[in-house]
Amino acid sequence: NLSSPPLAGAPVSTKAVPEKRRGGFVATYGEGELLKEGEGEQTLKGRYIIRVGWDDVRGFAAIGGTLIGTARCAAFREIEGRRTAALNLVRHGIDALVVCGGDGSLTGADRLRDEWPEHMNALLERGDISQEQCDTYKNLNIVGLVGSIDNDMAGTDMTIGATTALHRICDAVDSISSTASSHSRAFVVEVMGRHCGWLALMASIATGADYMFIPERPPTAEDWQSSMCSVLSRHRDEGKRKTIVIVAEGAHDCNLNPITPDEIKDVLTNRLGLDTRVTTLGHTQRGGNPVAYDRILATLQGAEAVEAVLSSTPSTPSPVIGISENKITRQPLMEAVAKTQEVAKAIEAKDFERALGLRDPEFED
Ligand code: F6P
Repeated sequence: NLSSPPLAGAPVSTKAVPEKRRGGFVATYGEGELLKEGEGEQTLKGRYIIRVGWDDVRGFAAIGGTLIGTARCAAFREIEGRRTAALNLVRHGIDALVVCGGDGSLTGADRLRDEWPEHMNALLERGDISQEQCDTYKNLNIVGLVGSIDNDMAGTDMTIGATTALHRICDAVDSISSTASSHSRAFVVEVMGRHCGWLALMASIATGADYMFIPERPPTAEDWQSSMCSVLSRHRDEGKRKTIVIVAEGAHDCNLNPITPDEIKDVLTNRLGLDTRVTTLGHTQRGGNPVAYDRILATLQGAEAVEAVLSSTPSTPSPVIGISENKITRQPLMEAVAKTQEVAKAIEAKDFERALGLRDPEFED
């Protein structure tokens, strides 16, 4: 992470790319410290910028988590932290970054690019870099990839990791369903997604859940308990032996009061007399081997990111790689970030229709 997060990145150098086509650099997670000349070649404590080659990443698509690690770094929020990152990049001959993260990492990366000339001048003035380095590293190229299980970025149909998390959730709900059916119980299953209900919505469809709560379609404050109970009673009357309610961790009512799994459990127990359990799936959703779709998506988008790095010019706005209607896309990174932040604001303003429309312009009720 260079100086480091929220910039979680895998920099690709167009200048220092290897004589033997051995690959690019990977920045490992760090603590905002300045690297000494040459230190990046060491793997000391696993925290510095290291060069990786094909041998290091072979078979990588099948492994969960990250090779480079990730962290949130307060230093990168300050201009001095970003200047340290700039110096680390120049010292490693890196003039382009492929940044994989959510809107925070992408915004941080874009800011680093905006400030780049200022950083170069300051570093030159301080004597940290030579005039030749300043001339050579006049520009920094940034390309974004969106890695998030939440699928919460506007302007792309899918983010890397979301389908794997969905698969984990479906597996878990299938397993829970066995006990639910045998004991004729109700289960309230909480899934991740932060402020986005995509995981909860898709998991509900895929597992045939009886009811769900998502942030984008909040029930009215007064009547959600009655409407839920009437749907669930009908399902029981139709002969179902189990009840599954999926709740997104960001779910709330239309007054933005959180709807919690325990609250739902109490309603099911007290009003419907159902033997109810709560299961919070937690971080099991965020690990394990990626499903085929995520491997393919990450590979295609990674290739597109390298193309974008190589074809970018100082006047091109930094792109973010997405996917739309099954085609890999590029769009201005900050447009996607701004739209994503607008969605959050629309939800805060209780304008849920607008939030849905912004996230997916094709959306129809
Ligand atoms: O953004 C990914 C995510 O897994 C969210 O779904 C969840 O709210 C959050 O991260 C959990 O973060 P942490 O691991 O820091 O608790």
